[in-house]
Amino acid sequence: MRPILPLSNRMQRLPSQFFAGLTQQVQAYIEQGRDVINLGQGNPDLPTPAHIVEALRDSVQDPATHRYGPFHGLASLRSACAEFYRREYGVVLDPDSEVAILFGGKAGLIEISQIYLNEGDVALVPDPGYPDYESGIKIAGARMATMPLVPEQHFMPDLEAALASEPDAKLMFLNYPSNPTGAVVDSSLFEQVVRMAQSRKMLVVHDFAYASIGFDSIRPMSFLEVEGARDCGIEIYTLSKTYNMAGWRVAFAVGQKEAIAALKLYHNHAYVSLFPAIQKAAESALLGPQDEVHQRTEIYQKRRDAFYLALHQKGISAKPPQGTFFGWLPLPEGISSLDFASRLLQEKGVAVAAGVGFGQHGEGYVRVGFLDREERLMEAAHRIADWMIQNQNG
Ligand SMILES: Cc1ncc(COP(=O)(O)O)c(C=O)c1O
Repeated sequence: MRPILPLSNRMQRLPSQFFAGLTQQVQAYIEQGRDVINLGQGNPDLPTPAHIVEALRDSVQDPATHRYGPFHGLASLRSACAEFYRREYGVVLDPDSEVAILFGGKAGLIEISQIYLNEGDVALVPDPGYPDYESGIKIAGARMATMPLVPEQHFMPDLEAALASEPDAKLMFLNYPSNPTGAVVDSSLFEQVVRMAQSRKMLVVHDFAYASIGFDSIRPMSFLEVEGARDCGIEIYTLSKTYNMAGWRVAFAVGQKEAIAALKLYHNHAYVSLFPAIQKAAESALLGPQDEVHQRTEIYQKRRDAFYLALHQKGISAKPPQGTFFGWLPLPEGISSLDFASRLLQEKGVAVAAGVGFGQHGEGYVRVGFLDREERLMEAAHRIADWMIQNQNG
């Protein structure tokens, strides 16, 4: 069929969705009736806690929630976000000027690039890192410069090197606990970030998607806990992982006031805020009982332990992650992450995400999601180890 119109330059700049092919391949195998253990995605498998679902059910009965909500989200939700930060991190925020409600973290990450980047501007991103930073940067016509994350430096970027080679970078994206490496940082990295950002015209964007998932009693810290952070950065907090609400599309940004005001201005033009009933349910998530949040982190930790124990039993040693629900598994020499992922799926029925999909420095790794039952994760680990043993001599 003749295309009706050429796509805009903006659309043509979009990178192809790296993992779409894997998803299709997995689906095709499942339809053939094969026993596929799918650890390739980051979609939480456990349900949203019941009290949040009930809050939605109750709110949806209230006709007031059927009307347009306020452009900047319900004031009661913005207050709940501020209260949540006070309770969890001891960070006191003004709900009017330091909180913006988002249609999911992904939307905020894309929007912030449209807000601050002109064509040709530079944004720094972690490599390996979450692919959607690139999406927003490309839509804006800006250039992405990468900050390598390597195990020798505990998957933390070399900030001096990054800013020496890109002194005019306007945005710096960071993400801890880190997808895909599972690394967690202490305050020293964030303090250094603030020191270096303060003297520049640069906004730090800390993506705190896995805020609630730290293992072995590690409590991931908020960027805003560091003094000066709110003057040079924002943090994006999604309810997708903390409350297993990935399908609900609700998140918020906190921090630097000008950036928060700019996000709200963008929202004024792009849409009215989220369905008010979802906002009410989000309030009940943030302010209600938190025991299920902790239970879920324990579940992920047990799954992580089961997976690494099963690898170990087969003689494969790898370092378990400190946070997120992902394992970042180094591959044997001589096979690319794409070939490994594709052969593992074909030959052993286990889907994992090829590391190179997260950036050049992801080559040599695959990401494994702990998003199935312990027995299945152990089975997957055995199949992965068997594959490695069978292919260890090339
Ligand atoms: C690192 C990271 N950031 C952001 C997101 C986006 O989360 P959401 O759009 O569901 O809020 C994800 C989701 O997988 C993620 O892994």
